[in-house]
Amino acid sequence: TSVEAQTASRFGFTPIPVQTDGTVHVPEGYTWAPVARWGEPLFSDAEELSQETGMSVTSSDRVFGENTDGMEAFVVDGRQVIAVNHEYVNPRENLPHQDGEVLSADDVLTLQNMQGVTVMEVAEGDDGWAIVVDSDLNRRITQNTPMTIAGPAAGHPLLQTPDDPAGTTVLGTMNNCGAGKTPWGTYLTCEENFNGYFGSTDPAFALPEDYVRYGISLEGRYAYEKFDARFDVSQNPNEPHRFGYIVEIDPTDPTSTPIKHTALGRFKHENAAAVIAPDGRVVVYMGDDERGEFLYKYVSNDVYTPGGPTSALLDDGQLYVAKFNNDLTGEWLALTPEATGMDEAEIAIYTRMAASAVGATTMDRPEWVAVNPVAAEGYCCLTNNSDRGVAPNAGGDETPVNGPNPRAENDYGQIVRWYPSNDDHGARTFTWDLYVMAGNPTVHSDAYGGSSNINEGNLFNAPDGMQFDSTGLLWIQTDGDDDNEGDFAGMGNNQMLAGDPMTGQIERFLTGPKGSEVTGLTWSADKRTMFVGIQHPAAPFPDGEGMLPRSSIVAVKRVDGAMVG
Ligand code: FEO
Ligand code: CA
Ligand code: CA
Ligand code: CA
Repeated sequence: TSVEAQTASRFGFTPIPVQTDGTVHVPEGYTWAPVARWGEPLFSDAEELSQETGMSVTSSDRVFGENTDGMEAFVVDGRQVIAVNHEYVNPRENLPHQDGEVLSADDVLTLQNMQGVTVMEVAEGDDGWAIVVDSDLNRRITQNTPMTIAGPAAGHPLLQTPDDPAGTTVLGTMNNCGAGKTPWGTYLTCEENFNGYFGSTDPAFALPEDYVRYGISLEGRYAYEKFDARFDVSQNPNEPHRFGYIVEIDPTDPTSTPIKHTALGRFKHENAAAVIAPDGRVVVYMGDDERGEFLYKYVSNDVYTPGGPTSALLDDGQLYVAKFNNDLTGEWLALTPEATGMDEAEIAIYTRMAASAVGATTMDRPEWVAVNPVAAEGYCCLTNNSDRGVAPNAGGDETPVNGPNPRAENDYGQIVRWYPSNDDHGARTFTWDLYVMAGNPTVHSDAYGGSSNINEGNLFNAPDGMQFDSTGLLWIQTDGDDDNEGDFAGMGNNQMLAGDPMTGQIERFLTGPKGSEVTGLTWSADKRTMFVGIQHPAAPFPDGEGMLPRSSIVAVKRVDGAMVG
């Protein structure tokens, strides 16, 4: 075959133009259809979503949650199961009868119930993919589901509260953004902007220094603190220390207790990309999505053996933070007591401060990390940075232009790639390059025009979600400015593109509806269906005129039934 034919087959689709309308577009020869939308019953006792009043409090934890985000698919006893995050809520749509105002404890509980995680069986019938209602594998995990705290911070005085004096059991997981999958078949859900759920009913409450670095303020985003004392920091000052972790969920057992793994650090976790090092140790790459924060990796002390014990693999290990040098080399700096002046529990709780202490490289908002399944390399989306040079929060580091973050006003974002030494993800050193710098060559002729693999036909901004498929193609999802004007002219709605790691070629595959972010990607067991998340679309996606907008997972297939990844 010719080089051209190989290139064509590498992508398997004809790239599509940008769109500015209210629906999803895929290439010719592909179809899409909704699989699950906010408020859709997981159990037959759930009431239908009301266009006037949203979801009732009693049904709010019996339905598919709000703002679909990271997801992973599993096969359980031959059945297909998707575990998926519900990152946050959209009160105007969730409480439409009161214009989004949170007025009661029931309102708070409704919102808490629609966030967290859904585990659901899905099946493909004559009408396409759908939730298997009442499957015994279906489960909602909410902001009130009991979970165990494990790792170095478990039981530490900073995690003890009046309701949990032992500091080992916490209610709920929140702001579940990106996801991951362990080699042993469990789901990892990542707590990102947990800070926004806390507030104080006492306006004179003095914010502790560690709150400031993590962005915890006197006023919560959804007024939880007024109706649920757990979120009132003047009454429960340690509750925020119990969030900002990665949580492991067993999708095969709906009665299992989720585990918060504090050894993976506490920050605004984006996702978790797990890979096995050549010696069998488990490596988990993780981004902290805030301007001027860092890229991390965790390496287990013990090794993974298929079928062997896994219980300590995410609790006993070493956390590292990335230092990128301008000469295209880099180093993983170990967050040890010696290097940080903090004990193991403090490193797990105050991870941002530990990373600052060792001189990690400040980054342009590390979003998803993806590891190439067919080559020893990792990728991280650095989505953008609107305020270079301003410390992200009081107590954060200065954020000068540096190697992997080369542009002062970074509206567009870039994807950094690293090659671990000796092809070993457990190695302490690496070399790096930029896979792509997004930009707009129709507006700018300098670095803001983007790297050489950006052209008029593949414009995008703010790379965010990212997954490799089994063939080694890199799928990139965006969460950017979709006004299609000025610096963003010609970029259209948020989208999903595919990138060839070898050639750098990037082509547009899917566009989302206006207002939405495209986030979350996984595949059916036979790889003939791609599941894509559409978060916070504008009305009336996908139900039609006059209907509330509903974040949805859509299924994308080839008309000829061939594989899509
Ligand atoms: Fe929830 Fe950083 O995206
Ligand atoms: Ca994201
Ligand atoms: Ca984002
Ligand atoms: Ca989002």
